[in-house]
Amino acid sequence: MRAAIITLSDSGHAGRREDKSGPVIADLLTAAGYTVTETLLLPDGVEPLAGELRRICDNGAADLVLTTGGTGFSPRDLTPEATRSVVERPTPGIPEAMRRLSLDITPRAMLTRAEAGIRNRTLIVNLPGSPKAVRECLEYILPPLEHGLEILLGTAGNCAG
Ligand code: MTE
Repeated sequence: MRAAIITLSDSGHAGRREDKSGPVIADLLTAAGYTVTETLLLPDGVEPLAGELRRICDNGAADLVLTTGGTGFSPRDLTPEATRSVVERPTPGIPEAMRRLSLDITPRAMLTRAEAGIRNRTLIVNLPGSPKAVRECLEYILPPLEHGLEILLGTAGNCAG
């Protein structure tokens, strides 16, 4: 399966901060057998991300898009708004599961506003920004995500058989 990674960070985009979370996602995806087709580093804000998500999903350029960053409370944290603006079918169970897991690690997990959903045949999932949070969340969601993607792509039947 093909995956795209998008890091949202004003300081990363301006070259003032190294993106450590994108590479963590790439390593975990590659170890799980995904082909990483593109990695982008975008400034925070709705339209840069929404535009890239529309391009990737509408061209079928990836089966999975993972974003990292911009899910918190800063005025520039607009990753959930960008995601919601392009998603056709929300998948709230994925961010619910990440928050449930993460609340056992830190109460601050309640501060992520991460969203997830499907556009066309592509699943979009927001991850929090820190490399630690990315690893914690992704290791948990990747196994069930694979089953969901197989159903989305038509390579597996649904769970009802
Ligand atoms: N989730 C996990 N698993 N581990 C973490 O350390 N950090 C939280 C939360 N989710 C965290 C986590 C914190 S401190 C914040 S502010 C929010 O994610 C939002 O992060 P973001 O703005 O970088 O996306």
